[in-house]
Amino acid sequence: MLFHPDHRLWLLRGATSAYAIRLAEDDSVRHVHWGAVLTLDQAAELPERVSPAASSFEAEAGVDELAVEGGARFGPPSLLVRFADGTRGVEWRYTGHDIDGGHLRIHLRDRHYPLHVTLNYRMHGDGDVIERWTNVENRGDDAPVTVLRCDSAAWAAPHRPHYRMSHLVGGWNSEFQVRRTDVPVAETVLTSRRGMTSHHANPWLAVDDGTACEDHGEVWSTALAWSGSWRISLHRDPVGRTTWTGGFGHEGLSWSLAPGEALETPVFAGLYTANGFGAASRAWHAHVRAHVLAHPDETRPVLYNSWEATGFDVDEAGQLALAARAASLGVEMFVMDDGWFGGRRSERAGLGDWTPNPDGFPSGLGPLAAEVRRLGMRFGIWVEPEMVNPDSDLYRAHPDWVLHMANRDRTEMRHQLVLNLARPDAAAWTHAWLDRLVAEHAIDFLKWDANRPFTEAGWPGHEDPDRLWIEHTRSVYRIMDRLRADHPGLRIEACSGGGGRADLGILARTDQIWASDNTDPVDRIGIQHGFSQLYPAQVMSAWVTDSPNVATGRRTPLRFRFHVAMAGAPGIGGDLTTWTQEELKESAELVAAYKRIRHVVQHGEQHRLRGDGTLAGVEYVREDEHVVIAWCPTRAFGHTPAPLRLAAVRPDAVYRDLDTGATYPGALLLQSGLPLGLPPGDHASALVRLRRADQV
Ligand code: DGJ
Repeated sequence: MLFHPDHRLWLLRGATSAYAIRLAEDDSVRHVHWGAVLTLDQAAELPERVSPAASSFEAEAGVDELAVEGGARFGPPSLLVRFADGTRGVEWRYTGHDIDGGHLRIHLRDRHYPLHVTLNYRMHGDGDVIERWTNVENRGDDAPVTVLRCDSAAWAAPHRPHYRMSHLVGGWNSEFQVRRTDVPVAETVLTSRRGMTSHHANPWLAVDDGTACEDHGEVWSTALAWSGSWRISLHRDPVGRTTWTGGFGHEGLSWSLAPGEALETPVFAGLYTANGFGAASRAWHAHVRAHVLAHPDETRPVLYNSWEATGFDVDEAGQLALAARAASLGVEMFVMDDGWFGGRRSERAGLGDWTPNPDGFPSGLGPLAAEVRRLGMRFGIWVEPEMVNPDSDLYRAHPDWVLHMANRDRTEMRHQLVLNLARPDAAAWTHAWLDRLVAEHAIDFLKWDANRPFTEAGWPGHEDPDRLWIEHTRSVYRIMDRLRADHPGLRIEACSGGGGRADLGILARTDQIWASDNTDPVDRIGIQHGFSQLYPAQVMSAWVTDSPNVATGRRTPLRFRFHVAMAGAPGIGGDLTTWTQEELKESAELVAAYKRIRHVVQHGEQHRLRGDGTLAGVEYVREDEHVVIAWCPTRAFGHTPAPLRLAAVRPDAVYRDLDTGATYPGALLLQSGLPLGLPPGDHASALVRLRRADQV
């Protein structure tokens, strides 16, 4: 972090990039540069970016770091406020800055009103990620300030002839589909209005000039660390400026800041790379490991999950039968899913009544937990703490604890309603039962699910009801943080009907993410490809389930199913009581094979590989070890797919296949690819372990 007082310019420098900001004459904080490394003197020479089309309809205004209403600004504002006298917008006055290691704070206030704003920039000294967020504070002593929008940051790409955006779209069972489209000359909004991150859009947006690919080209990639509703507005104007602003909440919400009150936004992080989408992903993965995850060096266990096997038909005997088989395969953690509590025999009842179902568990959870541990596994359990069925003792006791509005119907989805955890009483009760459950059975792992979006999100009687959109999510974070602090061995999987809650905010208090309820390995290849754009393999929970697949009806070989799941942190989710002895034997071998590669998959660098269209693959690299997993979902015309060209080997080295002993010159692996020896037919796959031969 450097500051040039004469030019009123700050320069943030990462490993391979630089970011420059300047204070304009009117004290607006203006964007100057985001790209290749520059010195402070070079950055001082950069002109401020102004509109090339000034007229009586355009101002000369540069690009704001946090655009407000006011002056000749007509793009999407990042900060929208209204004061008690009806005045809107902000006129800036700079009040100083401080630099504390890698953390720059730029302090501003409104020229007239007692609104103080701090722009935060943090770099960790080990990469190119810039974490940005905003603090606003009403330092007045009489009137509230209405905040209509408060984004974490606005980003700008440099002037290029063309722009393209990459983002993730989907739905339940089809999360994380990558879309790459030209940025229209328009405002484009990526958003969730659902109170959850959502399956439909993920808060990640990358911009390039249309020429970047997996291994080369400039990419400006950004991700919001927030697990509730959010919005990112991308604006390309007709004269070639592309900027985007993002933060929590969707349009139309407002928050009243009382005198003395402050608001802090979540982090909106960004990184620049000149080396394509693959390098951007690896930089994110490294950042997640170094600065987001609490236990990045741990190896995620192979787990078993009961959901697809038993549905709501859950009892001690059934779970014990599954646990015994799971243990015999080498599974390390047994997770009992939905259906173990209250009157929960279907989706319709019992959610909220978190005591073991007396019919299924006459002696409570103790015997199951003990037997799971005796079998050598850890014990995990499914919970859905933010939700309630109206047919539950909880709802009957506290109907006012759910999100609702006077004179409006309570929309039920999956026969459930959302608990308003912004309410201190509902939050305290929720923390108490979770704490009790974890303590009583020394629970190792919670699968924290959330199976519906917010509707009728009101808080009758509260003077500032839109607060719940922020406070509910913060309350979830607080409960998770407190549980983890009080139970240091506890690990958590984030889930929202599959991948509806994947973001850097939830990852800061969980250890893995259930990426999708769709466990069909063919569909999963695309889902995992999208997931890997931002999130590392070690947090990607992936199960091997029964064939035909319950969601798609597709039949696939066991080996193919395993090979797809092995690209992340695999589990088994099939009904093991129906698997044949041959299938169990093969599964045990594949679990053992995964344990031989997981230190590379979970802790190595990931390179996405492209085959000839019918073949996809991933190469993981850790020091001199390489793991290649390749999948051929369908074989067009019966042709053999071309070999897969590796991405991360040295041309002058020789690589040995650790299973067959074959050796390959690195130059050939790069040029003509790795022979995979795929069997004929659809759903073929391969797993290859390589080591640089001089070290075998
Ligand atoms: C949705 C999850 O994604 C599933 O894995 C399962 O836990 C069900 N909920 C249980 O209701």
